[in-house]
Amino acid sequence: MELTTDMLIQAIQAGHITVCTIGIGRIGLPTALSFAASGLPTIGVDINSELVNSINNGKFPLKDEPGYDVIFEKVIKNKNFYATTKIDEALSKSDVVLLSLPTPMDKNNVPDYSALKNVAQQLHDFLIPGTLVIVESTVEPGFIENELIPIIEGNEKKFNAGTSFGIGVCPETANPGQILNDFERLPRLVGAVNENIANIITRLYKHIFTVELIPMPDCKTANAVKLTTNVFRDVNIAFVNELAILFENLGIDTNKVLEAAKTKYNFQIHYPGPGVGGPCLPVNSYQLLNLAKKINPDLLKIVKTGREINEKMPEHVIILMKSCFKEANKEIENSEILVLGVSYKPNVKDIQISPAEPIIQSLKDLKAKVKIYDPYFKNLEIFNVKTESNLIDALTNTDALLLITNHREFHDLEPSFLFNRMRTPIVVDSRGIIDQKSAKNVGLIFKGLGKGE
Ligand SMILES: NC(=O)c1ccc[n+]([C@@H]2O[C@H](COP(=O)([O-])OP(=O)(O)OC[C@H]3O[C@@H](n4cnc5c(N)ncnc54)[C@H](O)[C@@H]3O)[C@@H](O)[C@H]2O)c1
Repeated sequence: MELTTDMLIQAIQAGHITVCTIGIGRIGLPTALSFAASGLPTIGVDINSELVNSINNGKFPLKDEPGYDVIFEKVIKNKNFYATTKIDEALSKSDVVLLSLPTPMDKNNVPDYSALKNVAQQLHDFLIPGTLVIVESTVEPGFIENELIPIIEGNEKKFNAGTSFGIGVCPETANPGQILNDFERLPRLVGAVNENIANIITRLYKHIFTVELIPMPDCKTANAVKLTTNVFRDVNIAFVNELAILFENLGIDTNKVLEAAKTKYNFQIHYPGPGVGGPCLPVNSYQLLNLAKKINPDLLKIVKTGREINEKMPEHVIILMKSCFKEANKEIENSEILVLGVSYKPNVKDIQISPAEPIIQSLKDLKAKVKIYDPYFKNLEIFNVKTESNLIDALTNTDALLLITNHREFHDLEPSFLFNRMRTPIVVDSRGIIDQKSAKNVGLIFKGLGKGE
């Protein structure tokens, strides 16, 4: 069956399209909920049976995604959405299949597309001819054309992309913690195997989202844009991280430099920090490097160096901590160090590739007693540390505080509040939250990443 725009529009208007989202994690679940909320029956497929069961029992797993709790309740109640582990059953009922599968990297920083390839094989086995497949996962340019489509088509050419099934991409650009907001404002890119399929995807997404849909000539160009935006950030953060280390030595406050620099029309601000984590930026840089090395290993040296710089930032945080202990004339060994924040970014419950992990490991290697307080991870075991449930209690008997994540809850931390509660008043701020002058005025032994003395 050949898919046409007219057929799709008629089907959407009649509510006859059933959508299936494979992978209902951080990105896939909100996406599925948006499709369901638009009135289209939607099925979420995941291999995680615990997640599937809890969703079907009405438990919304993404507490840090404002707005989606209400949408979730509504679509579960009106039965427009349910979850399952049975991909074959879901595919047999679906006209549109969205792939929101993880694309992490292995311990050698090689991109791991096994979830997508595995599902592609199942699409080959169970896809109904005429189905439209849309890949939202972040992949290297060329992966769809050279690896994913051949698996779905099969050696025996059971299917033919563009005629017996539609396939395109609409790479996800939403930011965890504000996905609903981003879905309502960020333009989306659409690329496909042919113009007809691209038009169909555009019309479908217009039915769900109010944002601009930008046509791309093909899948690989859309994926190239997605990687370019994230790798741009990774490289720029590496640049300001190096500036931060330089300016610390020169007695210059990096944040003051950056805030003033951004008054120039063509400067785009990025902030230094303890490292770049999360499921996107580090992985996306390695995806682009993986692609480049197949062409010329000397390409994209700047990206490789940027990664090296960002991956060394946890070591710099430890240097700042050691220098505070030296100033306090105290040993790190056996001292109690409270880490504030373990998420890789503020206001989300997510520790994937968080710089907190190597920093905590280094503190343990120095034989410090590490405590963790993070409002998103109370009374849990994180990086083999039992987390604290109350900040004030956690500060008692603390010899040093290390701020890693700039969660909203930490923005109003007063230096005098810390000084009055800590056993030894050592504070290292890797996020530029605490004012250095006030910190020193109240008597804190203080180091701020990127702050000159
Ligand atoms: N999280 C982000 O910030 C973000 C932002 C933009 C794009 N992306 C991209 O979106 C994609 C999904 O990322 P995410 O953060 O939602 O990942 P996630 O890990 O939160 O969710 C992925 C889900 O897929 C499920 N899964 C894994 N293998 C499966 C299989 N074979 N069959 C069915 N389900 C399977 C997992 O159980 C999980 O629930 C990735 O490519 C990522 O790079 C993520």
